[in-house]
Amino acid sequence: MLYYRDKGKGKTIVFLHGFLENSRMWRFFQNKLSKKYRVIAIDLPGHGRSSKKTNEVNRMEDMAKKVNKVLEHLKIDEVIISGHSMGGYVALAFAEQYKYKVSGLGLFYSTTLPDDDIKKEQRLKAAEVVVKNPKEFFRLSIPNLFAPQNVPKLQSEIKTAIKWAKHASLTGISAALKGMRLRKDRTDVVRDLGKPIFIIIGKYDNAIKNSELIKKMEGVKKLSIYELETGHMGALEAPEECLEILQTWLKQNYK
Ligand code: MLT
Repeated sequence: MLYYRDKGKGKTIVFLHGFLENSRMWRFFQNKLSKKYRVIAIDLPGHGRSSKKTNEVNRMEDMAKKVNKVLEHLKIDEVIISGHSMGGYVALAFAEQYKYKVSGLGLFYSTTLPDDDIKKEQRLKAAEVVVKNPKEFFRLSIPNLFAPQNVPKLQSEIKTAIKWAKHASLTGISAALKGMRLRKDRTDVVRDLGKPIFIIIGKYDNAIKNSELIKKMEGVKKLSIYELETGHMGALEAPEECLEILQTWLKQNYK
């Protein structure tokens, strides 16, 4: 069973963290939103306090099944499912497998599109490098996820993100990289959902191809797209703005 943090009562929102992160990243959002909603933040396999032992490859659909197990355990049969980056890929896989349980979908700095060939190659290299020298991998890769102009002033947030990465297991990291590499195009999941959807993108996000995603989202119903002046790490770079977007979107779409 995956580790989870559960707070509040009411309509349920699930938050899934990204690669190298854990459920702590949602603490600010969980504390604020749990005054009105039930907020569940889950540690994905190999990350945070969930078991360090994982499969060789953690496919997005396998992680989605484990998320569903948590919801079954809590006897929750309807959720707004959301996630940051890799967590968004898992949220999409969840919406594909358990559409009947989804009353809304949120993507923070994530995409419906699969990896291209270059990215697929980089995933395998990263899986090799991280096992050999994890500290160096985190030190070099994590600051790049922040908008360049935010790096000098967000040193303590960068340290926090590096600390989270150190909580992940090396097998979990490698399995997540291989799983992300295999993920399929889930544009149709969004297109066919028929429920409220939000997407938050970062103007300076190097990890996501925003313009391709926006093109693919043309004509999708009940979709709100918000752009922030951040890199890939809105929850740390602009928490207040992300919270305000969430609160507004929730108020507009659910009574
Ligand atoms: C993440 O933040 O979860 C990853 O950067 C996602 C990715 O590499 O595609």
